[in-house]
Amino acid sequence: MTRPTGYTVYDYGQMITCEPRMSIYAEALRRAVTPGCTVIDLGAAFGVFALLACKYGAGHVVAIEPDPSIELLMPLAKANGVADRITIIRDISTNYTPETKADVIVSDCRGTVSLFQHHIATLADARARLLAPGGTLLPMRDTLNIALAHWPVTYRGTTRPWLGNKFGLDLSAGHSYATNIEMKAYLKPRNLRSSPAVLAVLDYRSITEPNIDVPVDLVADRDGPIHGMLVWFDAEIAEGLGYSNAPGQPELVYGQMFLPLSGAPRLAAGERIAARVRATLVGSEYLWTWDWHVRDAAGQPRGKPVRQSSFLSQLHSPKALANVSNQHVPQFDARMVLDRDCLALVGEGRTLDVIARTLQERHPEHLPTYKAALDHAARCLGRYTS
Ligand SMILES: C[S@@+](CC[C@H](N)C(=O)[O-])C[C@H]1O[C@@H](n2cnc3c(N)ncnc32)[C@H](O)[C@@H]1O
Repeated sequence: MTRPTGYTVYDYGQMITCEPRMSIYAEALRRAVTPGCTVIDLGAAFGVFALLACKYGAGHVVAIEPDPSIELLMPLAKANGVADRITIIRDISTNYTPETKADVIVSDCRGTVSLFQHHIATLADARARLLAPGGTLLPMRDTLNIALAHWPVTYRGTTRPWLGNKFGLDLSAGHSYATNIEMKAYLKPRNLRSSPAVLAVLDYRSITEPNIDVPVDLVADRDGPIHGMLVWFDAEIAEGLGYSNAPGQPELVYGQMFLPLSGAPRLAAGERIAARVRATLVGSEYLWTWDWHVRDAAGQPRGKPVRQSSFLSQLHSPKALANVSNQHVPQFDARMVLDRDCLALVGEGRTLDVIARTLQERHPEHLPTYKAALDHAARCLGRYTS
């Protein structure tokens, strides 16, 4: 079953067998944990780091996780004889205020790259509010890298369906959407077409800024088409303990991120792609923008500049856009009346059963059965209580 995070228990299982990630985290925890210390497992899922922290001698471990996968932790803690040392917080860390701050905070809330949802703000908040002075944050630092890449098969998947088909249809309007999608990749060193450049250093001991806006200049190391730019990270979990999802390293759960270059420019060795790469947190997701042009070996621009963005990959219905305009005038509809009545019944000590029966009595045309009324009330109130 899919959980609110989008991860299944199977996915969490893959994270435990992801090597060297797990062994490096385990060793960093073993070194950081001192007898009796307090540890926070932030984004615990079912709490594998919490269990390890207990095993290495922590006196108290707080496991914070809003996903129901955390319900596995107590049975596992009992099976490992450490249940009396673990406290579970079923919420996000920014809603949690501890009685005592932690000596160690361990987390891995990255996605394909470390700029993922509220990862940066989460760790900045944890550092400021949850970590004792002089405490240890695991991970310590990530370095994002970027290089030119050759990935013809997948690149063709962004062009072929749109720029030519045997039915004689003009589907070209779809092409620009397809070439603006950032993709998960598992590329090899043979796919790289330049040396890497550093895109960002994310030092979790001091970072506050979630966005990046970085100029990069990547020089092709041979003649041929460039299909995109590949982004990956080198993780330093603690001093001297790290791993990387770079091409050539063991494949990790994260994968790498591929930004396609529209038109797959053909470069001669020594020519370069000069790009401005931006990652901007909008709501809870990152928008990636990569504006670029080709420069010849002397640094002179060749061809037109190209603007690309994951925003340009998105199709929006006119209705959905109109509904979020500040000029939109919302109209009452029947569903809102049901929700209004449902919410008005809360706070007077009524059970869901009584709320459902009252709603069914008032709105038999929309809630013809007790089950329909109960489902509606549970769904409506679930928005505020889950
Ligand atoms: C990639 S999983 C990592 C699970 C486990 N810690 C591991 O490394 O194998 C990240 C988890 O962090 C949780 N998470 C993300 N932001 C969080 C926050 N602010 N507070 C608590 N949990 C969070 C997500 O729900 C998700 O289950």
